[in-house]
Amino acid sequence: MSRAAILRGLVQDAPVIAPSILKVDYGNLHREVQLLERGGATVLHLDVMDGHFVPNLSYGPAVIESWRKLTDLPFDAHLMISDPARYLDSYLAAGCDSLTVHIEAVPEPQRLLRDIRDAGRLAGIALNPGTPVERIRAVLEYCDIVLVMSVEPGFGGQKFMPIALEKLKELRSLLPPEVLLSVDGGIGPATIVNAAKAGATMFVAGSSIFDTPDYGAALRQLADTARSAVSPSARQ
Ligand code: DX5
Ligand code: ZN
Repeated sequence: MSRAAILRGLVQDAPVIAPSILKVDYGNLHREVQLLERGGATVLHLDVMDGHFVPNLSYGPAVIESWRKLTDLPFDAHLMISDPARYLDSYLAAGCDSLTVHIEAVPEPQRLLRDIRDAGRLAGIALNPGTPVERIRAVLEYCDIVLVMSVEPGFGGQKFMPIALEKLKELRSLLPPEVLLSVDGGIGPATIVNAAKAGATMFVAGSSIFDTPDYGAALRQLADTARSAVSPSARQ
């Protein structure tokens, strides 16, 4: 099975906790990845920033390609970059298994989303806190992942913005269950509860994993908390 197919299948095991590779020890990335694997991570969320679409720079395809040798975990790439179509081939060649682009960077993304799917990868669309769901309605049918930003993109360690919750609820009602509904920014044991209740199935988490000494324990705590938030006994 391809890694993209494995990533697609993770929705069956939701909640999916996706560690964000941003605030990590880049000098020891192999070790970080090993700790995540041993801790039970099933996917890695790669935050790609270009210093233009967002006011921060992270890494690009050459670096991702080198990480591809470290692990077989699916790579969920979050492209916070301008003109992602121009670089699509590089990110495909680097071994990304899903590619999520921002609607603010690509106002008419149908073709790009189709190209991503045609390459056998999962196609995703992301929207910033200030962007209404209406902006992506017409392209939902081309998406395998919809990512709701719960902070302004660019930096880890920010506070969760509750505006994301209404958008998650609206999107969950519009999307078939097999589409991963992802929430990204400020996710921790407290904020994951309402995000799960609002219908998110994939939870991107940076600080709440990497600022703790035991990544496995942090992953399990997040997953257990999200699961109990939506278990029948917890439903209102
Ligand atoms: C923000 C990134 C997030 C971020 C999450 O632009 O897309 O993935 O790193 O980090 P925390 O969990 O610290 O908000
Ligand atoms: Zn992200």
